[in-house]
Amino acid sequence: MLYRKTIFLSFVFFSALFLFSCSGDDNSFVEIEEKVNPPSDVWEIIPIPKSAQRTGDVAKGKEYLLSGDYMSSGIPLEAFLAVYGSNTENILGRSEDNTNIPHNYTAVLAKNGTKVVAPNCLSCHSGSINNEFIIGLGNHSMDLTFNRAALEPILTRGITQIYGENSAEFEAYQQFRKSIIAIGSKTITATLGANSANKIAEVLVAHRDKNTLVWSDTPYIDIEEDVIPSDVPALWLLKKKNAAFYTALSRGDFVKSFIGAGMLTLNDVEKAKEIDEKMPDVLAYFESLEAPKYPFSIDNTLANQGKALFNNSCASCHGNYGDQPSYPNVLVALNIVKTDPELSNRNTRESDYNRYFYEWFNTGYFGSGPNPLRLKAEGGYIASPLDGIWATAPYLHNGSVPTLMDLLDSKSRPALWSRTFNNADYDTKKVGWNYTVETTKKGNKTYDTSLKGYGNEGHTFGDSLTDEERLAVVEYLKTL
Ligand code: HEC
Ligand code: HEC
Repeated sequence: MLYRKTIFLSFVFFSALFLFSCSGDDNSFVEIEEKVNPPSDVWEIIPIPKSAQRTGDVAKGKEYLLSGDYMSSGIPLEAFLAVYGSNTENILGRSEDNTNIPHNYTAVLAKNGTKVVAPNCLSCHSGSINNEFIIGLGNHSMDLTFNRAALEPILTRGITQIYGENSAEFEAYQQFRKSIIAIGSKTITATLGANSANKIAEVLVAHRDKNTLVWSDTPYIDIEEDVIPSDVPALWLLKKKNAAFYTALSRGDFVKSFIGAGMLTLNDVEKAKEIDEKMPDVLAYFESLEAPKYPFSIDNTLANQGKALFNNSCASCHGNYGDQPSYPNVLVALNIVKTDPELSNRNTRESDYNRYFYEWFNTGYFGSGPNPLRLKAEGGYIASPLDGIWATAPYLHNGSVPTLMDLLDSKSRPALWSRTFNNADYDTKKVGWNYTVETTKKGNKTYDTSLKGYGNEGHTFGDSLTDEERLAVVEYLKTL
């Protein structure tokens, strides 16, 4: 027993490092379709048609999201607790085993009945701003900048030594281990907060059979090298959207894509079906989320001036707010929005990987059954609703712009900038993060807009405003 404990401590120390930086999975990218290479000379604002969604129970959905077993492989609970037993913060107010586990992890029963701990959706879909914790806010500080597989051998050795290779604990850890090895070196981002969920999903899809979802250690297709980052959209916006994801790829049943996260840990399609039955409740919960209110004072006279300007220059794409809200749900072609094209191009270009990916989704488990995913890549980005926009810096689909004032004046945007990653280091004038302009990239806190996929160009729709007008529009945006 003593021997066991000593080993525990040494391996657990490393596993903590390993774990805590690793994140969940993602479902986010679950969407590519046959449509490739839209003509690049089309100047279009494309309305996105509504598609039917399943209904569910809000309270059950919240419970399942926070504590449910949609993840099914991970670190044995005892090992996890040896280090984190003292985490009594319990900001989610969870019960039983989860009382002592940080909000971005959940203790679940693996298929063989072993208790394991695995990352959950909140590792990417929750965050704090001005010291307020908000479920549904994208995690703007997540660290995906290192190889999460680097410490896997130590973790595996520790688990083997404690439990033995033939133990139920080792078995329950296997799929998590394999997934981490597969994604580790392939999903590294350049900056804290930049999210590689799309790429994580691409890697997992390359390793799974499209019908049975069973894992293959050798990928079925070569995985491309580039890691194109994205921000994480706020989930209170989903209820207004006719398509999910920045590129509007997910047009059919939203819920089916929610299994994507489970792809990190599930063993087979039976588990996917079980998760799919519970996830309509989670969608109902997301649809019940409201944007957080701006916590500081607002100059209402200025905001009213800004509202008139907004309705004139912005509402045609972003909609109207207030008593009679409306939202047009449009996809804006690259030639018009002119923001970094890489995330969109990733979906639309002709490649072996994309052919595999579309076929995987459209003809396998995800694209069949009563509620199939429908993936449609048309090129461009959605003009998202702006509710709670004050809380969701940095801006654009790749988080390349630190404040709203900079977003509305493309020439003032910093090419290299860093922030403290203290969630209260907030700029109420420019609205967004306080930042420092840098001349060189200094580690993973600097955002370098010259990197592929990290560009901050385009969306010049605020450029013709004067500084006074911009301040008025930004004051109005605080009210949304
Ligand atoms: C590793 C981080 C990560 C994890 C874990 C994760 N997501 Fe996401 N999620 C993302 C990112 C990034 C996007 C945006 C991707 C894009 O649009 O290209 C996203 C998009 C979404 C969207 C679409 C939102 C919109 O407005 O377009 C939904 C819904 C969603 N995730 C639900 C979930 C659920 C449910 C889980 C858990 C089962 C989950 N996510 C786990 C990172 C993550
Ligand atoms: C022609 C359509 C169009 C017009 C007009 C337009 N936008 Fe946008 N807006 C977009 C699109 C598309 C995006 C997403 C671009 C991206 O992420 O690459 C966007 C992104 C944004 C974002 C960032 C959203 C986020 O979550 O990061 C804000 C804020 C915004 N717009 C505000 C405005 C304001 C204010 C105006 C008026 C001055 C305006 N927009 C005019 C299409 C438009």
